[in-house]
Amino acid sequence: MRILIVGATSAIAEATARLFAKEGAEFFLTGRNSGRLEIVAKDLTNRGASKMQTAIFDITKLEDHFAILDQSFLSPVDVVLVAPGTLGDQKACEASAEATVKELSTNFVATAALLTQIANRLERGAVIAVISSVAGDRGRQSNYVYGSAKGGLSIFLEGLRNSLYEAGVHVLTIKPGFVDTPMTAHLSKGPLYVKPEVIATGIKKAIERRKNVVYLPFRWKMIMAIIRMIPEPLFKRMKL
Ligand SMILES: NC(=O)c1ccc[n+]([C@@H]2O[C@H](COP(=O)([O-])OP(=O)(O)OC[C@H]3O[C@@H](n4cnc5c(N)ncnc54)[C@H](OP(=O)(O)O)[C@@H]3O)[C@@H](O)[C@H]2O)c1
Repeated sequence: MRILIVGATSAIAEATARLFAKEGAEFFLTGRNSGRLEIVAKDLTNRGASKMQTAIFDITKLEDHFAILDQSFLSPVDVVLVAPGTLGDQKACEASAEATVKELSTNFVATAALLTQIANRLERGAVIAVISSVAGDRGRQSNYVYGSAKGGLSIFLEGLRNSLYEAGVHVLTIKPGFVDTPMTAHLSKGPLYVKPEVIATGIKKAIERRKNVVYLPFRWKMIMAIIRMIPEPLFKRMKL
């Protein structure tokens, strides 16, 4: 199996890649941080990856999208995992148009642009797995810029899944809840937090079973169903 991982230095992506490395998968890894990317690549090779290629790639540099995909699609790709994301500061976004645009760009605009190019290159039987978030299921005052970007991404993936169905390319939307990763390092951890390894196991299963949308862990499906049911006149008064 040949796997392209965009944002391979993500803790969730790395934990997922380790599970596939054990089975001898081939990888093309991209990431912004060359030092971290090489550490991840070496670790996956030590764990059993049968072939390893890496490339430096910042997803917001739209001018680089074409070249990076030309490089990574020299051989057919079976699975693409798209992980980049930033949990920007909501208050900073409220104070700065630039901060808001940057947040929307990484988490939605650049990701959607890249996915469009990826979709054009995949062959029947391939899977595109993209990490969205439960935060995209309902706008909340504490993180609605990040949440709206992920919400937009989830809708985009819904359309992409529909559009690629006939071509036999599968699209998986991954919606994790709270995960203990560098992204959430500055937040205090409650009982709903899980380690990236838990999410990784769920992602691998969902790829293999060709799931459409997965909440990880599963309990978030119930939590978000309840949150979505709260009537707007009540929801707008809540401090969430
Ligand atoms: N942690 C959670 O609670 C949680 C919950 C729901 C969804 N998610 C989503 O899960 C995904 C993975 O996050 P994580 O939890 O594994 O956190 P993480 O370890 O901090 O990973 C975030 C990754 O995004 C990469 N990234 C950010 N901006 C980028 C850009 N412009 N171009 C390329 N890569 C970029 C980072 O690269 P650098 O190493 O270069 O910074 C890093 O590899 C994200 O999409 C996130 O939104 C996380």
